[in-house]
Amino acid sequence: MHKTRRQFLKAASAAGIRLLTPLGFIGIVSADESASWFKNPLKLPALQTGRIYNDERVIDLSLGYGNSAFLGERTTPTVGINGAYLGPVIRVRQGENVALKVTNQLSEPSTLHWHGLNLPAAMDGGPHQVIDPGKTWTSAFKIHQGASTQWYHSHMYHRTGIQVYYGLAGLFYIDDPRSDALNLPSDYGIDDIPLVLQDRSFNEDGSFRYASSMRDRMMGMMGQLMLVNGTAFAHFKVNKRLTRLRVLNGSNARIYNLEFADQREFQQIATDGGLLQRPVSMRSIVLAPGERAEILVLFSPGDDVMLRHKPLPKRSSPSMGMMGNMMAANDQPFDIMRFETTPDLSGPQKIPTQLIEPRSWSVSEVARTRQFTLNMQMGMGMMRGGGFGINGRSMDMDRIDARVPLGDVEIWEIVNDSPMAHPFHIHNTQFRILDRGGKPPQANELGLKDTVLINAGERVRVITQFEHYADASSPYMFHCHILEHEDAGMMGQFVVVA
Ligand code: C2O
Ligand code: CU
Ligand code: CU
Repeated sequence: MHKTRRQFLKAASAAGIRLLTPLGFIGIVSADESASWFKNPLKLPALQTGRIYNDERVIDLSLGYGNSAFLGERTTPTVGINGAYLGPVIRVRQGENVALKVTNQLSEPSTLHWHGLNLPAAMDGGPHQVIDPGKTWTSAFKIHQGASTQWYHSHMYHRTGIQVYYGLAGLFYIDDPRSDALNLPSDYGIDDIPLVLQDRSFNEDGSFRYASSMRDRMMGMMGQLMLVNGTAFAHFKVNKRLTRLRVLNGSNARIYNLEFADQREFQQIATDGGLLQRPVSMRSIVLAPGERAEILVLFSPGDDVMLRHKPLPKRSSPSMGMMGNMMAANDQPFDIMRFETTPDLSGPQKIPTQLIEPRSWSVSEVARTRQFTLNMQMGMGMMRGGGFGINGRSMDMDRIDARVPLGDVEIWEIVNDSPMAHPFHIHNTQFRILDRGGKPPQANELGLKDTVLINAGERVRVITQFEHYADASSPYMFHCHILEHEDAGMMGQFVVVA
């Protein structure tokens, strides 16, 4: 640990990204002196509300190449949406008709998927809605859901991992009157702050290093440098006492266990699908790839505090073996970003005690239960890059794995039959977690979710209902949100049928 820290300091003083080579850089920043490194103002994605035209909110998005300077003078070739890296925060209201016009200015096909949204399958932006270079695809649908922090990203089969890594992702906010009435902090960039967490690795020439090893492909791509909204060593000047953070785990594979360095309490107010019934007091929160959380943090004048990752408690499972050990070895504490208050901290500090009642379903309404087992084949299958599947089958674009009758309430039981954790995501719907390993979910998981972390060997049951849209010819996806696993086939397809 000490040796690597010295190496880091030496590297940094040489001011070259060249020296940010493999030695667990991300793991060593949690040091007393690290605060001085965190001085790059947190970048804020542009807010894009589009324009209203013929009773439709039209939002123009363009996928294109760019160059980004993350650290030092070296530039990194990146990909972005209306910019060099990542995309704008799209902001719409419940009840609106939206038209997202996506133009692909890349030289390879891509897609843009609206993660967390209830919408027609043909508008989903999944692997079947490919946008060829130079083409524009319009995704038009009505916003049924209430206030929430959703997101969007590339979903090009076999290329999702690399395209998202290079920057094809952004946030998608929905507002509604019930949430407006709660007077939560909602001044974008002032007291309502997006935090897109990503980890990245670099080659000596400054370019991103993506999945260069067997380990990257097996475990998913873990980077060595933390970016928040594309900012390395991010620093945020806190303006208001009560600040809302909308956190997205936009990483390809890394699971975060977030806490403040002083272990202060914060209130979680929303999960993937929207507001919780009431704020939940927390000191740390686990976010797996694809998951979002909104939290309220109370700051005092003079605060200077780091948001960091603390290693997840080690789970000993007899089946963990080599992979489990590799995971554990990788899990070191590291700093993510710094919050420093301005001297004239202002604003109210009242946190509502009640939020909204999230949608729920009762088991007595359930029409059927489906089972999904997540598989990773070990040994030689793995070495060839195969073995990632669900119910023993790898993704097939021409196979429908499940047909769900429109409006039926279903339980999906997900079993992790592998030595590592996988975040399981279902398109087109939000669900409630019924139980995790037979036990009821924690208070902060008692909200609407579209992605749920299934630990090694664990069984999780979720309850949901597929509403509004049926189309027997156009599938939605369910998959592991570790993008390298998804690209390798840990994904399946379902259709909703009338
Ligand atoms: Cu976030 Cu199928 O995706
Ligand atoms: Cu999705
Ligand atoms: Cu996985």
